[in-house]
Amino acid sequence: MIPYISIIIHFLLLSIVASSQLLAISAKAIMSPETDTLALLALKDKLTRGIPESLPSWNHSVHFCTWEGVSCSPRHMRVSALNLGNQNLGGTLSPAIGNLTFLKFLNLSSNGLHGEIPKEIGHLKRLQYLNLAINNLEGEIPIELANCSKLEAIVFNYNNLTGTVPFWFGSYMLQLIQLSLSANMFFGTIPSSLGNLSSLEDMALAGNNLEGSIPPTLGGLLNLQGLFLGLNNLSGIIPPSLYNLSSIEQIDLSENRLLGSIPTNIDLAFPNLQYFSVGANLLTGTIPPSLSNISQLKIFDIVGNRFNGPIPTSLGNLKYLKELLIDFNDFGSGGGDRDLEFLSSLTNCSQLQLLTMQKNQFGGMLPDSIGNFSWQLHTLLMGHNHISGSIPEEIGKLVGLRFLDMGGNLFQGTIPVSIGKQKTLGRLYFQSNQLFGNIPDSLGNLTLLFDLDLANNNLQGSIPVTLKHCTNLQNVFLSLNNLSGNIPHQIFGQQEGLVILNLSRNSFTGPLPSDLGNLKHLVELYVHDNKLKYSLIFQILKIP
Ligand SMILES: *[C@@H]1O[C@H](CO)[C@@H](O)[C@H](O)[C@H]1NC(C)=O
Ligand SMILES: *[C@@H]1O[C@H](CO)[C@@H](O)[C@H](O)[C@H]1NC(C)=O
Ligand SMILES: *[C@@H]1O[C@H](CO)[C@@H](O)[C@H](O)[C@H]1NC(C)=O
Ligand SMILES: *[C@@H]1O[C@H](CO)[C@@H](O)[C@H](O)[C@H]1NC(C)=O
Ligand SMILES: *[C@@H]1O[C@H](CO)[C@@H](O)[C@H](O)[C@H]1NC(C)=O
Ligand SMILES: *[C@@H]1O[C@H](CO)[C@@H](O)[C@H](O)[C@H]1NC(C)=O
Ligand SMILES: *[C@@H]1O[C@H](CO)[C@@H](O)[C@H](O)[C@H]1NC(C)=O
Ligand SMILES: *[C@@H]1O[C@H](CO)[C@@H](O)[C@H](O)[C@H]1NC(C)=O
Ligand SMILES: *[C@@H]1O[C@H](CO)[C@@H](O)[C@H](O)[C@H]1NC(C)=O
Ligand SMILES: *[C@@H]1O[C@H](CO)[C@@H](O)[C@H](O)[C@H]1NC(C)=O
Ligand SMILES: *[C@@H]1O[C@H](CO)[C@@H](O)[C@H](O)[C@H]1NC(C)=O
Ligand SMILES: *[C@@H]1O[C@H](CO)[C@@H](O)[C@H](O)[C@H]1NC(C)=O
Repeated sequence: MIPYISIIIHFLLLSIVASSQLLAISAKAIMSPETDTLALLALKDKLTRGIPESLPSWNHSVHFCTWEGVSCSPRHMRVSALNLGNQNLGGTLSPAIGNLTFLKFLNLSSNGLHGEIPKEIGHLKRLQYLNLAINNLEGEIPIELANCSKLEAIVFNYNNLTGTVPFWFGSYMLQLIQLSLSANMFFGTIPSSLGNLSSLEDMALAGNNLEGSIPPTLGGLLNLQGLFLGLNNLSGIIPPSLYNLSSIEQIDLSENRLLGSIPTNIDLAFPNLQYFSVGANLLTGTIPPSLSNISQLKIFDIVGNRFNGPIPTSLGNLKYLKELLIDFNDFGSGGGDRDLEFLSSLTNCSQLQLLTMQKNQFGGMLPDSIGNFSWQLHTLLMGHNHISGSIPEEIGKLVGLRFLDMGGNLFQGTIPVSIGKQKTLGRLYFQSNQLFGNIPDSLGNLTLLFDLDLANNNLQGSIPVTLKHCTNLQNVFLSLNNLSGNIPHQIFGQQEGLVILNLSRNSFTGPLPSDLGNLKHLVELYVHDNKLKYSLIFQILKIP
């Protein structure tokens, strides 16, 4: 996911004329340069692939200044803006664009355009805003664009453009406020000359094939609010100079091979930070407690690095915190009772929606306070740690939860009956713990449940009949327990969407219910190692 932020661009399109005014200045209209008409018609022909129904208002019966998406400068009656975003045009951009020499604003985003960006675009010396995003444009950025030195926004994201990120941006595009080249095929390194673009507020180069290190010169972009370099092949250390970017609100360096750590005074470096994403890199060190001073922080994503140590209990100060993703790291002590203290503090974060902390070294018991998490919490993942004790009954208070993963820990005790209150739960993973007792009847209240994994525990008793109410089940894993009794009729046979059912390695008796044969989507059925009537040692049914 590449976050798209919209920034306010200060266009000086003082000069857009309403069509009603045109009548009053018909004398000028007659004088209006024929070149614009010809250029527009040539553009139309290529943009619309000659399909006459496209852009119907672009016809000779009215003045071109009234054509859809066209605006003119009142003084010269020349085209000053072309605003044709999202028109389903599908053609190419004609070199005739270069004849609209009064153009300041060009927006052709989301049109399925293909072909190259014509070099004639370099004739548009007045151009301030150029948006060709979300098309299929290919080839390199033409060097002639260097002539458009008034450009404030270059928005080329989501195309198939290639070549290197032009170094000459840093010499000629000195008015740039927004540079968006994300989701293309650019390769090579990030030119250090981009550090000259001192007006830049938004730099997005994510989702390309860029390599090498992040140039330290970027630390000079003191107006930068958004920096998006994720999903490339960048390496080396995150340059300390980046922590000079005190205006930064959103930073995404995720999915590279970057080294380094988060500075202890991150609060002073990034006082306006809202979005911080450095997941899937090679970063080390701890989460500095000062993070909790960054009052606007909403999303903190450091998934898949080598961070360690405790999670600061001061994070509860972050009242706008929405997503905390710290999974796949080395946090926690493996046993210490203080490992999970931070969870209690997070109950103060009333906007918290997502907390992922699986695959770390967290130990100790889960505090009852987790029942006090925000009612907005929809995802809570703590699988594959060393968490012990029982699963608190308070968990049932998290009534907005859609995904709960506590698998692969050291939980003991029974499955809390209160789980039945989480009516929105779709995925429930309690597998590979030491849970015992019966599967609670209340599970049948979870009518939206589609993934249920209780495998590899010490659960006993029979499968609750109430499970038949969970009519959305797709994948059910109950294997490796001590479940017994008959496999009741009308439980699984009613689950039309069932794909995988694993009941193996229990103590089930009796015959297999015949209604299992009705399941049209069932791909895998495992019932081996039970005491079933027919000695089914190892059975995998494949129903086409
Ligand atoms: C663009 O301008 C050039 C030079 O003035 C002219 O030769 C050409 O025919 C024009 N093209 C269109 C499509 O208007
Ligand atoms: C030409 O444009 C005008 C104004 O939009 C429209 O009313 C008219 O139907 C168009 N003519 C044709 C032939 O498409
Ligand atoms: C450009 O067009 C796109 C698609 O219609 C639109 O979302 C965007 O806001 C436009 N940009 C400006 C500055 O008007
Ligand atoms: C760029 O500007 C220079 C100097 O004004 C001019 O010689 C050159 O032809 C221009 N190139 C284009 C593509 O407009
Ligand atoms: C992008 O361009 C490459 C060649 O440069 C081509 O192989 C690929 O199919 C194109 N992808 C899309 C989505 O157009
Ligand atoms: C831009 O930056 C480069 C390298 O960072 C530098 O050598 C060059 O002088 C700068 N150019 C301008 C026009 O400021
Ligand atoms: C990333 O860069 C390294 C060299 O620094 C190279 O060996 C590797 O193949 C690159 N990976 C991709 C996916 O381009
Ligand atoms: C930017 O950061 C570097 C390295 O951390 C530091 O030496 C330099 O003084 C900082 N520059 C500014 C303008 O703050
Ligand atoms: C938060 O900021 C205050 C004031 O700058 C400072 O005194 C305090 O030490 C900071 N807290 C942390 C945890 O760094
Ligand atoms: C959480 O809120 C409680 C009560 O408002 C307060 O006593 C406690 O200090 C807060 N904890 C944190 C970490 O913000
Ligand atoms: C949960 O919140 C309630 C109401 O604020 C409070 O009375 C209770 O002590 C809290 N529970 C825990 C375990 O912190
Ligand atoms: C859930 O199921 C149990 C047993 O089937 C039932 O008694 C209870 O009323 C249901 N509702 C809730 C919210 O747990």
